[in-house]
Amino acid sequence: QDNVRNKIIEAHELAVKFYHYILNNTRQGDEAKRYLIERGLTDKLIDQFMIGYAPGDWDVLTRFLMNREFDPKLLEKGGLISAKNEAEGYFDRFRNRIMFPIWDKNGKAIAFGGRIIGEGQPKYLNSPETMLFTKSKMLYNLNFARPAIKKAKQIVLFEGYMDVIKAWSADVQNGVATLGTALTEEHCMLLKRHGDEIIICYDGDSAGQAAAYKAIPMLERVGLKVLVALLPKGMDPDEYIKSHGTDAFRYEVIEQAVSITKFKLIYSRKNHILSREEDRNQYIVEAVKIVAELDSSTEREIHLKELAKEFDISLDALKQDCHEFRLQQQ
Ligand code: GTP
Ligand code: MN
Ligand code: MN
Ligand code: MN
Ligand code: MN
Repeated sequence: QDNVRNKIIEAHELAVKFYHYILNNTRQGDEAKRYLIERGLTDKLIDQFMIGYAPGDWDVLTRFLMNREFDPKLLEKGGLISAKNEAEGYFDRFRNRIMFPIWDKNGKAIAFGGRIIGEGQPKYLNSPETMLFTKSKMLYNLNFARPAIKKAKQIVLFEGYMDVIKAWSADVQNGVATLGTALTEEHCMLLKRHGDEIIICYDGDSAGQAAAYKAIPMLERVGLKVLVALLPKGMDPDEYIKSHGTDAFRYEVIEQAVSITKFKLIYSRKNHILSREEDRNQYIVEAVKIVAELDSSTEREIHLKELAKEFDISLDALKQDCHEFRLQQQ
């Protein structure tokens, strides 16, 4: 069993180099390479993350690895190739895709994420679940991020590969991402094992905001301190870095991450039109409810004072309501 695992890892290590070579050194890789450079990746980043390209042929990787005496059954088990349905033989799982190697936390290559060049479906194709690769327990980049996480005791959680890679170039090297699945309990426990504090940095669209809202209680439950980094509407970290640069990302997005109370207040605010009386009143009530969740009375007072000032309400009235909500929440 250990032998099978080691062989699957060995095959992945070779495939990583193979795809990376094709991207960098062959005409077949030209289009993919141009695409990556156009998206703002540098040769240095492409090397660091060993990004590669799987050409359109049916069986280049299959032949490459079988020539090196790998058993195709084992390669199939490892998720690199598939058995043909009608005829005998095997074909590559990944064709015409930009390849992102996925390493386990010890730096062993165990899977790939493959992106289509440009538009198309599915945008990302990942390796299937194998004896080495369980998506619900894997975090992309945990291997490279470990030293930075250890140093800062802090982790940044992204949605996608590209976000992690671009953030790395902004010296945010404690970033990880889930792999095309929602955050699980297992992810949360894994995160808690490595850090004390987490910054959620999801896409600035409604899906990303909703995902952040869902992730907060899960991350808090395992004892992590949670902050949320805010991005302009409709931008993800990768797009933000492309248009605003790495310094802006680091100093204005990551370092300005807000508490979950602030995040919830901003989120609720966005869902109300404050110039309408009815909506404004609803927002104020909702805001007090959010503040009521805070355990520290000092922190509650800070937020309530801000609300009182902004909407010209007496602090006493807000405190009274807040107290009522706290009783209800228990
Ligand atoms: P880019 O367009 O390359 O910048 O990707 P993105 O990371 O911005 O994509 P998006 O925000 O749409 O999705 C976030 C993450 O979800 C991706 O990085 C993938 O891990 C995953 N994902 C997105 N699309 C697919 C898909 O079609 N299939 C699978 N399995 N995962 C996907
Ligand atoms: Mn290289
Ligand atoms: Mn998204
Ligand atoms: Mn995105
Ligand atoms: Mn993106």
